[in-house]
Amino acid sequence: MSGEIREAAAVRDGEPSLALDVKKVREDFPILKMRIHGKPLVYLDNAASTQKPYAVIDAYNVFYSGCYSNIHRGVYHLSETATKAYEDAREKARAFIGARGIEETIFVSGTTEGINLVAQTYGREKIGKGDEVLVTWMEHHSNIVPWQMICEEKGAVLRAVPIDDRGDLVMDELEKMLGPRTRIVAVTHVSNALGTVNPVKEIVRLAHRRGIPVLIDGAQAVAHMRVDVRDLDCDFYVFSGHKLFGPTGIGILYGKKELLESMPPYQGGGDMIRSVTFEKTTYNAPPYRFEAGTPNIAGAISLGAAIDYVAALGFDAIAEHESAIQAHAAEVLSSIPGLRLVGDARTRIGVFSFVMEGIHPHDIGTILDREGIAVRTGHHCAQPAVDRFGVPATARASFAVYNTREEVDALASGLLKVREVLL
Ligand code: ALA
Repeated sequence: MSGEIREAAAVRDGEPSLALDVKKVREDFPILKMRIHGKPLVYLDNAASTQKPYAVIDAYNVFYSGCYSNIHRGVYHLSETATKAYEDAREKARAFIGARGIEETIFVSGTTEGINLVAQTYGREKIGKGDEVLVTWMEHHSNIVPWQMICEEKGAVLRAVPIDDRGDLVMDELEKMLGPRTRIVAVTHVSNALGTVNPVKEIVRLAHRRGIPVLIDGAQAVAHMRVDVRDLDCDFYVFSGHKLFGPTGIGILYGKKELLESMPPYQGGGDMIRSVTFEKTTYNAPPYRFEAGTPNIAGAISLGAAIDYVAALGFDAIAEHESAIQAHAAEVLSSIPGLRLVGDARTRIGVFSFVMEGIHPHDIGTILDREGIAVRTGHHCAQPAVDRFGVPATARASFAVYNTREEVDALASGLLKVREVLL
């Protein structure tokens, strides 16, 4: 059955209609018209990175061809135009996550830099010998290694909250592990390897009851759900532009104003200072204190375009479409003989890790590629999460707003072909 007919049938059967016109959305993404090995591209590696709409690509072009210059440094027209575009993008990011002010909205190169920044500034000041940092078993390496580095340096202990066989956090354990030596909790909003959506608001509530701050890694969340940092009451929230249909090399670190104001700088250089003499430098206020040097101006402006693009689609429409695709994918994947899903969390998004009996995940990826289907294989930069399920690697199909039911069906046919070729 074609996607359109299915959707019409769903409406007839009283299921919610799909408000989002996915065909129209796909028209916005030039790369989705590509053919790979003679087959239409089926891009299912959205947890690694998302494709870019014209709005984002054009924002780059317009900036570099029409108003390029450095920012915050010139009194001339181009510099003022570029500065305004950069600061407008910051305001868009602020509104996107519901931060109170632009001083809470720092441009970083991505999730990884945002977490390193917090570990090396807030963490360096607050974490001492014998203290503890609490992460979870489902973190990707960006939310493990920066904490491990500061713990090693300070003689502190990195502890990880376990996950159960479905891939949910064991919340009772989390509560027990919040102790008098816990200096920060760093937890992912959504698991990149398992698709689990964590109860982050509840985690913040439990940690705050004991006076412990919480950093949320939103890399896998922001393209799929509305995030409101004030409602979550988290202390830090980080995400990358490239997983939100924006460019690589740009992301956002949100931090509560009072925390950011108390934190030392991360890197030294231009723009993060108030005054410099050889005797002493005084530092700028947030967010500029944490943005040393010429920033990724084009990246920030294009991230602003990506935020506008997502806002125009609307999260209600995105969620409705994605949950229909997710339900279809769950059904279709469970019908493939010998396929085992790794992770079946109670609340999840469309990230499906799986293994196939007798077939190495890399072989799955290679054969799917010949069919034009892009999936990721390996440990997905989340080795402990994959190890937890007793497998060295998985194949992972991860969906975004532009994916269709036909693409889910193409994945299913591709997986049957994998079996045919290799078994
Ligand atoms: N963390 C990224 C992924 O999940 C790179 O693939």
